[in-house]
Amino acid sequence: MKRDTIKHQYVQEAKKVFQKNTLQGFSRWKHTSYRFVAPADREYTYQWLWDTAFHAIVLSHFDTKRAQDEIRTFLVGQSSDGFIPHVIFWGERKMLPIWAYIESKIWFRPRTTAITQPPALALAVEQIYEKDQDKEFLKEVLPKLADHHRWLIAHRDIDGDGLMSIISPNESGMDELPVFQYVMGFHAQDMARLHYYYRKADLLNQLNGFNSRRILEKDYFNVEELVFNVVFIEAARSLSRLFSVLSNPTEALFFAQAAKKGEEALIEKCWNKEDKIFYSLFTKEEKHAKVMTVASLVPLFLSGLKGSKLKLLVQNHLLNPKEFWTKYPVPSVAASEPFYEPNDTPIHKMKLLWRGPTWISTNWFVVKGLRKHGYNDVADTIVKQMIDMIQKHGFREYYNPETGVGYRRKDFGWSTLIVDLL
Ligand code: GLC
Repeated sequence: MKRDTIKHQYVQEAKKVFQKNTLQGFSRWKHTSYRFVAPADREYTYQWLWDTAFHAIVLSHFDTKRAQDEIRTFLVGQSSDGFIPHVIFWGERKMLPIWAYIESKIWFRPRTTAITQPPALALAVEQIYEKDQDKEFLKEVLPKLADHHRWLIAHRDIDGDGLMSIISPNESGMDELPVFQYVMGFHAQDMARLHYYYRKADLLNQLNGFNSRRILEKDYFNVEELVFNVVFIEAARSLSRLFSVLSNPTEALFFAQAAKKGEEALIEKCWNKEDKIFYSLFTKEEKHAKVMTVASLVPLFLSGLKGSKLKLLVQNHLLNPKEFWTKYPVPSVAASEPFYEPNDTPIHKMKLLWRGPTWISTNWFVVKGLRKHGYNDVADTIVKQMIDMIQKHGFREYYNPETGVGYRRKDFGWSTLIVDLL
């Protein structure tokens, strides 16, 4: 089948997925009606930050107004100081899932979490603008997105190096990625204790009132995480370009400089000379979290990555069948890691995410990055395998990197991102 035909097919299917996952109602919290695309029609029935960006990117291919609305709706949850939360709990349902209470300030019925997620909304806004050239929308949302980037700089960069710290594993968007148990000093695979370790930072954050600077000063969970920072940097570049569109050279310069500073620090500090790969940094000492995961490849998305680091990342790691070049790349954890688990986690109730399977969202960064740097053939091979998985198993939450079998939620929103890669 030709790419155009496949794209047409996936656009039709994406429309159905989005329709099925659309939730709407009236919010007593903000005294307004709301409508948004949830990640799935079960379990994930709230609005997430980076899912919203991905949904808006897909929507920009066939309905830019609706794409704008997704962003607008999410920005209703922004605090007056600029902070944008990772989840908004729309609706009036009284009981929320347990994690909602753990990740939010103590309240009977939290309206948003108190943690954030990779600041990807500006990436989506730029893609929408490329399609509709609507400057009024830019005027409306850019100042809000700029405020959130400034909030991050003020609260999450305590060492002033241009890299932002996350205060909870879930802020990375890759919840139980083994990088975070490594950071917590727990190397075993024992499920029950793992769950405790993955919640420990959130529980301590509660005690510290989710005060970022206080938490980072205490240093019990302080991770300058790769994906979060790559998104921060490229989103700052999007902001810079879009502020130029609005003839605002001061803001354009500010965000270009923030991007440059972060990118230089990441490429220099996160590179591990022995393993020749990028790792997240943890604690004030900035130690390398030495676990090879898809996050180590996401710096491919950085426009400024060049020379030997770029080559080594692609040739020694991505294309290495012992690490990331499985039949259906890119596995979330390298096959060479003892933590690598290609199958879905066995006990449903004790689900652990991001332990090996391939996810469409992280593939999106890798594929886009490969194309930026001229590795079109490698990008096309990954896309071909993604099409194969999706044709056989539909838009699943994630897939087995060896067999392509789809797992967990069906009709999962961001898996339609394939539309943007064709
Ligand atoms: C899981 C993912 C996270 C995503 C959320 C909603 O928690 O790890 O990245 O945002 O589900 O899809």
